[in-house]
Amino acid sequence: MEKLFGKEREPNSIIKREEALLPDYAPAEVLHRKSELEEIAEAIKPLAERKLSTNLFVHGLSGAGKTTGVRHVLKEFSEFSSKVISVYVNCWEFSTRMGVYSCIVRTLQEPLPRRGLAVDEAFDRILERMEKDKLAILLVLDELDGLIFRHEDELLYSLARANERKSVVFGIIGISCDPYLLRRLDNRVSSSMRFSQLQFKQYSTEQLTEILAERAKIAFFPGTWDKKVLNSCAEYGASNQGNARLALEVLWKSAHHAENRNSSQIQQEDVTTVLKKATLRGKRKSPFPLDSFELKNLKLSEEEELLVELLKGGEKLSSDLYDAFIAKKARTKRQIRNYIDILEAKGLIEITESESQGDVALKPRLIKLKKVV
Ligand SMILES: Nc1ncnc2c1ncn2[C@@H]1O[C@H](COP(=O)(O)OP(=O)(O)OP(=O)(O)O)[C@@H](O)[C@H]1O
Ligand SMILES: [Mg+2]
Repeated sequence: MEKLFGKEREPNSIIKREEALLPDYAPAEVLHRKSELEEIAEAIKPLAERKLSTNLFVHGLSGAGKTTGVRHVLKEFSEFSSKVISVYVNCWEFSTRMGVYSCIVRTLQEPLPRRGLAVDEAFDRILERMEKDKLAILLVLDELDGLIFRHEDELLYSLARANERKSVVFGIIGISCDPYLLRRLDNRVSSSMRFSQLQFKQYSTEQLTEILAERAKIAFFPGTWDKKVLNSCAEYGASNQGNARLALEVLWKSAHHAENRNSSQIQQEDVTTVLKKATLRGKRKSPFPLDSFELKNLKLSEEEELLVELLKGGEKLSSDLYDAFIAKKARTKRQIRNYIDILEAKGLIEITESESQGDVALKPRLIKLKKVV
């Protein structure tokens, strides 16, 4: 029961629990995704009896609820079976075989030697533990693009090969916004994985309004919002490919806008002002400057963040960018090139060949930020 005293709200305060509007919040219910979640549950169920499951490739536009939906199923599955260990990996954060194995090792709470482990050793440890404790592993590879981009999809092949031994079982769920991502897999890898595809369709305005309403009930004090306001935020999300994250972002910003002008309610004018600012910045994947929402979602490494920082001043020749980077952090040019390629794949920067004459391989590249930061 809520406390009877000492809970008077501040005058004009609207937001009660901000975290319910932020991208990492796990909603108690995933609305409008019943059939998708059931399909995932059906696919992974055999793992509970250490039988091979159907590997899934979940795709859909950004903000379609893929991560939220899959994580919700994982949570329920872990309550259902203790013999299946679920490991969630964001492949932009962990984009190598070793990175993914480390996530598994950590989840299994395997003791590690001080010297660390070599890739194959780590994998052997995982297999030994699975055999010993009769465990199955459900591995979710979110933003699978990260792994494929680094040419580390061999990982999938190793897992499929391990499944052939029968004594261990891995189930895989890959997630991406790119419906054609699997075409970039090596034939050998894709035929061994035999992914079934599951699309998360884009949300309508009505669906987004309902999603927002559930959040608003948790995030705001009663009487501070109404359906009309939510509907405007939802319309914006719907017209941007049904993006629930964007709809939540508009609502969050509108609530702050209302609080800043000392209003006790979020009103249409708050949403209008927030949207006007967004439109002024032009049409981009997310029309807002890269702030808490989008940056968090892009999971930038320290090195990638440094590159973004360096590019804020305007476009740079690759050679100048290397020099500026090395002045701040000791990395090889090859490594820096790699970080640049990853930023390009994440859609943050644009690279053009510079006009200069001469050896094509040595042609400097011009690099600039695509988005407002
Ligand atoms: N059906 C839903 N019910 C409740 N909240 C949802 C639902 N779908 C999405 N959301 C919310 O919208 C936001 C975006 O969802 P999510 O991160 O799952 O999208 P995504 O498809 O993984 O996007 P991306 O491809 O950009 O990673 C999250 O904050 C999530 O809580
Ligand atoms: Mg996601």
